[in-house]
Amino acid sequence: MFSDRLPEHAEPNALTRALARLLGAGIPIVDLTESNPTRAGIPYPKELLAPLAGPRALQYEPHPRGLASAREAVAADHARRGTVVDPEHVVLAASTSEAYGWLFKLLCNPGECVLVPRPSYPLFELLARFEGIRAEPYDLDYSTRWEIDFASIEAAPADARAVLVVSPNNPTGSYVSAREVERLARLCRLRGWALVSDEVFADYPLDATLDVTAPLTDLATRADCLSFTLAGFSKSLGLPQLKLGWIVAGGPPALRDQALSALELIADSYLSVGTPVQVAAPLLLARGGDVRNAIHARTRTNLACLRESAAGTPACEVLRVEGGWSAVIRVPASRSEEEIVLDLLDRERVLVHPGYFFDFASEAYIVVSLLCPPDIFAGAIPRVLRAVSS
Ligand SMILES: Cc1ncc(COP(=O)(O)O)c(C=O)c1O
Repeated sequence: MFSDRLPEHAEPNALTRALARLLGAGIPIVDLTESNPTRAGIPYPKELLAPLAGPRALQYEPHPRGLASAREAVAADHARRGTVVDPEHVVLAASTSEAYGWLFKLLCNPGECVLVPRPSYPLFELLARFEGIRAEPYDLDYSTRWEIDFASIEAAPADARAVLVVSPNNPTGSYVSAREVERLARLCRLRGWALVSDEVFADYPLDATLDVTAPLTDLATRADCLSFTLAGFSKSLGLPQLKLGWIVAGGPPALRDQALSALELIADSYLSVGTPVQVAAPLLLARGGDVRNAIHARTRTNLACLRESAAGTPACEVLRVEGGWSAVIRVPASRSEEEIVLDLLDRERVLVHPGYFFDFASEAYIVVSLLCPPDIFAGAIPRVLRAVSS
């Protein structure tokens, strides 16, 4: 009855079942997987969303790439991050997840593949499936920081059409370094791949000592390979419910413009971005800095707390985190990750993500969100570290 694009129906795993049991019984848990800023006690200015009710929002005059005023505001926001972006090279979408779908339609024939980092954000697999294509992993290796294993990219299948990078990556928090970008761009030129750079977390650096934290956003100004930079409100302004993301196209001008025309056709077929959010975009981007700063302060506070707690727990290692909203902890592998996280939930009533959720190549890792309120985080982390070390 239904298409092969859907994954085979999988039974809920043991962690999901255990969580449902506890929540069903009304037992409170500390959720260290929370990635929704609107549920994390971040202060939002009361009048922040007032611009959504502007009179222009009552008029429906869609433009397939998005209203010019909104695209200009997006370009100005990239200037805040230090990159010159032409508003004509911006295409608005309802989210970066939708933008991925559009890029996969643009770049891949059914059955072909895109290269995705591993470990990374688990949604890639599904987004690819829904477009009838494959997400083939390449590896990130950790020694003193997470770096791209270029041998695994060079061994890519012949039907690869694009390389996806996430900078900083979720959940490893690693930026793609300038050296890696050069190598990727060279490979893309040689193999005819597009380079897709997901920079939704680029506003949240966590390691002031690194020069790699300079966002990749100048990718869009490079003329040597076709590139698409993705960002959006959900992380940059902590406003996932407004549903506004975007693509900035870059590369050899003729190819870039062809890509933009094709993206325009795709976007025109959906016109999925609401008018109110586009009308409000300039003011939201201008005023959203307070929320961004509050989230950033939160992630820094929680990371400092985690590092301090872990310093007294030699069995656990907080891996280097350069940016983003999460931290990876290497924990003793005397039990499986599933046993570790189930035990944490059962004994400590604390929920964390197991590394396998993000497809880590080996065990045992747990991933914690840095978004939780600091008092809750500071109360839970020592218990987590004690429990996983025992
Ligand atoms: C790396 C990465 N990209 C994209 C997204 C999705 O963002 P959006 O809300 O714009 O679809 C997420 C969400 O967590 C993410 O982690």
